[in-house]
Amino acid sequence: MAQRESWATRTGFILAAVGSAVGLGNVWRFPYQVGEFGGAAFLVVYLALIAVIGFPVILVEFTVGRYTDRNPVGALKQIGTSSWQRIGWVFIVAGFVILSYYSVVAGWVLQYTVYGLQGNYAADGAAQFGATTGGMMSVLTHAIFMAAVIAVVGFGIRRGIEFSVKLMVPAIIILLVGLAVYAGTLPSAGEAYAYYLSPDLSTIAENWTSILPAAAAQAFFTLSLGMGVMITYASYLGEDRNLAKDAVIIVGLDTAIAFTVGLVAFPVLFSGDLAVADIVEIGDGPGFIFIALSQAFSNIPLGSVFGAIFFGTVTIAALSSAISIMEVVVSYLIDERGVDRVPATLLIGTAIFLFGVPVAYDGSLSWLTVYDELANNILLILGALLLSIYIGWVKTDIGLEELGKGIRNLGGWGTAWIWALRVPVVVTLVVILGLNAIGA
Ligand code: PFF
Ligand code: NA
Repeated sequence: MAQRESWATRTGFILAAVGSAVGLGNVWRFPYQVGEFGGAAFLVVYLALIAVIGFPVILVEFTVGRYTDRNPVGALKQIGTSSWQRIGWVFIVAGFVILSYYSVVAGWVLQYTVYGLQGNYAADGAAQFGATTGGMMSVLTHAIFMAAVIAVVGFGIRRGIEFSVKLMVPAIIILLVGLAVYAGTLPSAGEAYAYYLSPDLSTIAENWTSILPAAAAQAFFTLSLGMGVMITYASYLGEDRNLAKDAVIIVGLDTAIAFTVGLVAFPVLFSGDLAVADIVEIGDGPGFIFIALSQAFSNIPLGSVFGAIFFGTVTIAALSSAISIMEVVVSYLIDERGVDRVPATLLIGTAIFLFGVPVAYDGSLSWLTVYDELANNILLILGALLLSIYIGWVKTDIGLEELGKGIRNLGGWGTAWIWALRVPVVVTLVVILGLNAIGA
């Protein structure tokens, strides 16, 4: 059997994980979740969950992946002898569901890049969004995006994923910072910053039963957690790196980038003649960035140029995330079923494309919501919960042993991590699943 693949460089792994984390979750999903669930109140809960839950769980995935050198299903088979093995299947199903609709939304982003290049952002953003979603055009852009995902993953870990993220991740960061500087020069930037940066926290207490699950779903989605991406990526790590340090970099960059997106979006919205009332009104649905931003870009000098750069950047960010989801499923076929990479990629890519067709074709966005809620409110939370229980309570020794490699003085930090998993993480995730079950 051929030797299993691995990252060529130390930075390759970090860039791939950052590329996975930074994507539509930061740019498309985050803003409308904020809009839907109470603005800054949501933001505060989200940030707390990133620190308290996201960070411990990313370390679980890293340690399991590096310990086993396997895809998520194989990893759990290797460390578990019982029904715990089945957790891996939750990951595979989640990957299937998420990528199928993620690619549809990425296809729209691609379409909006083209609108920008054509100088074609409409003054009526809602009408243009309605014309973009649903129907054959939307199926076509979904197909184009999936083809790109298949191409990258088909080339493998080093020549496909690592090579592409080395280009994509720096490009995303440079372009976004450039866009934030540009947005700062827009006429209403001051007003926009004041709106964006002054939280009103009074709503948390009243609405926590809806805010908490939504914020948790967003935290997992944005960090690519709960479906084995970080297990898979860490499984290609040979050397004993300090996983905690890498986790800080990855979580920190994802959060910083979500924040920077706000520094771009709000000045554009305010300067493009969108009143706060309009922003709030359209701000709570999946059409938000498409409708509001394109409409705003249509009202700003050189708006289509900057709009094309913006949506182009988002397309790249979506690609570097989508490849990570695909790699989870592909690595399963390679490791466990002995399928070669190229046929595995074509097979899975085609199946995921087909699974996404209803989402792409349906202009009402109801399929999108169904897929998104199934994946984020249930599958990601469930996957992370089971894995946290397993490592926190059952296979503690494996977690601690693996985390300790590459860290000279783990000291009490290892115990702190395990206890974070055992109680706060498990309790919070159980509560969230319960709230979702009641809400559903
Ligand atoms: N983290 C990605 C984003 O924020 O866009 C989305 C994602 C990637 C979710 C990979 C889940 C995943 F496994
Ligand atoms: Na993200």
